[in-house]
Amino acid sequence: MVDLFRLCRYICDTEYVFNSTVIVREQDSMILPELPASLIEKWDRPAPRYTSYPTAPHFEPAFPQARHKAWLAALGGALPPGDAVSLYIHIPFCAKLCTYCGCHTRIVNDYSPAQTYTDALLSEIESVTQTTGHGLPVAHIHFGGGTPTFLRNDDLSAILEKLRASFSVRDDAEIAMEIDPRTIAPDRAARLAEMGVNRISFGIQDFDPQVQNAINRIQSRESVEALMTAFRDAGISGVNFDLMYGLPAQTPQTIRETIETSVALGPTRFAVFGYAHVPWFKKHQSVLERYHLPGAAERYELFRIASMELADRGFVPVGMDHFARPEDPLVAAQRTGRLRRNFQGYTTDSATTLLGFGTSSISALPQGYVQNTPDINAYQTTTIKDDLPTLRGRALSAADRLRGAKIEALMCRFETDLTGLTTQEQQDIESRLAPVIADGFARIEKNGQALLIRIPDRGRPFVRLVCMTLDAYYEDAPARHARAV
Ligand SMILES: C[S@@+](CC[C@H](N)C(=O)[O-])C[C@H]1O[C@@H](n2cnc3c(N)ncnc32)[C@H](O)[C@@H]1O
Ligand code: SF4
Repeated sequence: MVDLFRLCRYICDTEYVFNSTVIVREQDSMILPELPASLIEKWDRPAPRYTSYPTAPHFEPAFPQARHKAWLAALGGALPPGDAVSLYIHIPFCAKLCTYCGCHTRIVNDYSPAQTYTDALLSEIESVTQTTGHGLPVAHIHFGGGTPTFLRNDDLSAILEKLRASFSVRDDAEIAMEIDPRTIAPDRAARLAEMGVNRISFGIQDFDPQVQNAINRIQSRESVEALMTAFRDAGISGVNFDLMYGLPAQTPQTIRETIETSVALGPTRFAVFGYAHVPWFKKHQSVLERYHLPGAAERYELFRIASMELADRGFVPVGMDHFARPEDPLVAAQRTGRLRRNFQGYTTDSATTLLGFGTSSISALPQGYVQNTPDINAYQTTTIKDDLPTLRGRALSAADRLRGAKIEALMCRFETDLTGLTTQEQQDIESRLAPVIADGFARIEKNGQALLIRIPDRGRPFVRLVCMTLDAYYEDAPARHARAV
């Protein structure tokens, strides 16, 4: 019965409906079939997450600070009328290490480093806006980490006040914050809402006690429930839950139970991330190797089950790994072709310029990308002197922009055309894509002169493999990226 129900829901796949202004694409369903383990293992290879193109490993080291400054100085004049910039603020502190963590963060036991860091952030905001000119319009602010709520209310409030004094933050701006539910008291919800926070994301990962034990992250359903009530009472109902698959001790049963518990708590969105095991980059992850880490076929099955369980409970798949309630703005963005992907993942944010503040943050400027140093001491000594904490960067060529737009279209809409690429480039992509097509994860169609790449439902979890065929910089460099599946 359940399978028949699923089949009816999944069968409508992808179709186009026209309304007066835009092409509306229905992607409210996806069929993820069971696949032979040998097929999944064949495609189990390192792949970038394509939150930018070129991807961060291809940024130039020692990017000149003067160039960063010149790009910022040109920003005011480069912004099309009516457009806004988005802001990302990175807070690199946590109270306790989750052993799977791949984020730029530091575990601290007392508050003084966070105080010093807040002062450095305020200096950075001042230096950047001295250069760009004050009052650039802002429609989205995202606080990520680490754990932004590691900062006390007064420090978060000082940062938001500084942003409001330095930019023209729109009244209806989305102000989103990542929150570790283990380390925040419910009574902070009202104060965060007062500051203007109107969207939150909880790191949940998994509710199973054995999994939580293995990853050193114990949190109860009851504690998350109390927080959900507090944030709802404070007027914040746009809540995302981050879940993960591929962790030690996870089984189809534990994933089903985690989804059931999570959905009952009432979030409007889920991000279901594959655990990125990169111990050459994050040494602490090697402690997880004493457990059985699910292999590629098990990971695929865990994701397949999570997506079916979410679909059965009315969540719409968005992009590669997000799921949202039909009324969530992310679903509307997908349906109208306005879904975007930036360094924070899938977003409704249409701004093409992102200013990143804090350690390791990346800015997307009209001329290219610039990344701040991830080293907290270097960041602080530089910003306190009113210098920019520039580390790496990359100017974008016309070819980068063309390929980047096509890769983003694949990641967001599961299709792209190859218009603008030379015949030779199109042939190269076609030949690299041939094995992916042979296994049914992509199709090539001809639309007049243009070649179209389409990814059917069964190819969606493998979309990054398709993007790799358009990536002019990708080499087989296993140490650089996590697995594709
Ligand atoms: C900055 S954390 C979220 C906020 C807060 N620090 C917390 O953990 O609750 C961002 C998210 O990244 C994901 N994440 C962290 N390490 C990861 C890894 N190695 N592989 C995949 N996802 C990871 C987790 O789902 C986590 O919730
Ligand atoms: S997952 Fe979140 S709370 Fe855990 S160490 Fe990483 S950033 Fe900190």
